[in-house]
Amino acid sequence: MAELLRRILEECEGRFVSGQDIGRRMGMSRAAVWKQVQGLRRRGFGIEGARGAGYRLLGRPDVIEEQELFSRLSRTDFRKHFVFFHVTDSTNSGAAEIAGKGGAHGTVVCADSQTGGRGRLGRRWESPPGVNLYFSLLLRPFLDPLRAPQLTLVAAIALAAAVEECSGLRASLKWPNDLYLEGRKAAGILAEMSADPDRLRHVVIGVGLNVNAGSHDFPEAIRGKATSLKILTGRTFRRVEVLARFLDSFADRYAAFLSDGFGALLPEWARRDALAGKHVLLRYREEEARGKALGVDESGMFLFRREGSARTEKVVSGEILEFGG
Ligand code: BTN
Repeated sequence: MAELLRRILEECEGRFVSGQDIGRRMGMSRAAVWKQVQGLRRRGFGIEGARGAGYRLLGRPDVIEEQELFSRLSRTDFRKHFVFFHVTDSTNSGAAEIAGKGGAHGTVVCADSQTGGRGRLGRRWESPPGVNLYFSLLLRPFLDPLRAPQLTLVAAIALAAAVEECSGLRASLKWPNDLYLEGRKAAGILAEMSADPDRLRHVVIGVGLNVNAGSHDFPEAIRGKATSLKILTGRTFRRVEVLARFLDSFADRYAAFLSDGFGALLPEWARRDALAGKHVLLRYREEEARGKALGVDESGMFLFRREGSARTEKVVSGEILEFGG
């Protein structure tokens, strides 16, 4: 009922709707409508009530609730199990714990803030409350463990598409897991798996996306390198909406990946590739090398030509430390 009332008020975009009209649509008395309005107010919705005019919505809390999330999803893949924490150490750890207890494929673990958000290579992921998205997907694909790293790229493509759709910005991707907007990092992906030599038990895909963070939300050390959707557009986004766009976008790409392989998504990567054709400093296997980025191949490997060499190397796992013209 409260959801229906919220939708009616949202449809009217800040205009008054009479209690009688609302009551008719909800099949209840005006007194019962008033009770529902009180319920929404308790949840943080700003609703003005004026005698003779009715009610109008002034503001919505930026909460991430299962009911609203599920109602915004077009696909059913991730409309099954949603776990939300106001504060947790890391949603990746939460999802791994759920996986260990037999948690289902498609579980989404999300938090308003993290105390121990993790990035790749043991780095910390800044996770202040109320502004960004931090979530992890639990997947149980029937997949050769050697192909699991490709899922990071699949998620990155899906995230880029969702961010572009929501914000109108153009996203670029830095192999293997970073999303850049206007030359600064706005999101990162941390995929962690549990596998036997020949069988994948589960994969956790963790996504941290800077949505409404202002530059003051970033520690000084990364302020010049990080950005958010809000910093770049001046708009405030509803996090649940961005999350829903991502889950639908990922569901599409994940299905294509499982049926046709990463090659089917390669064009989507290639047109957003932040590195292809650039000179880079690559760290891999304890070694650093300068050379040229030549793109990504149909198995998600980074194609690299070392300075002074004519040979193209295929890199499974590594990190780009610098990239320029
Ligand atoms: C990176 O850029 O190095 C990856 C960052 C991944 C951060 C996300 S936030 C949600 C999930 N939980 C974590 O602890 N890490 C990932």
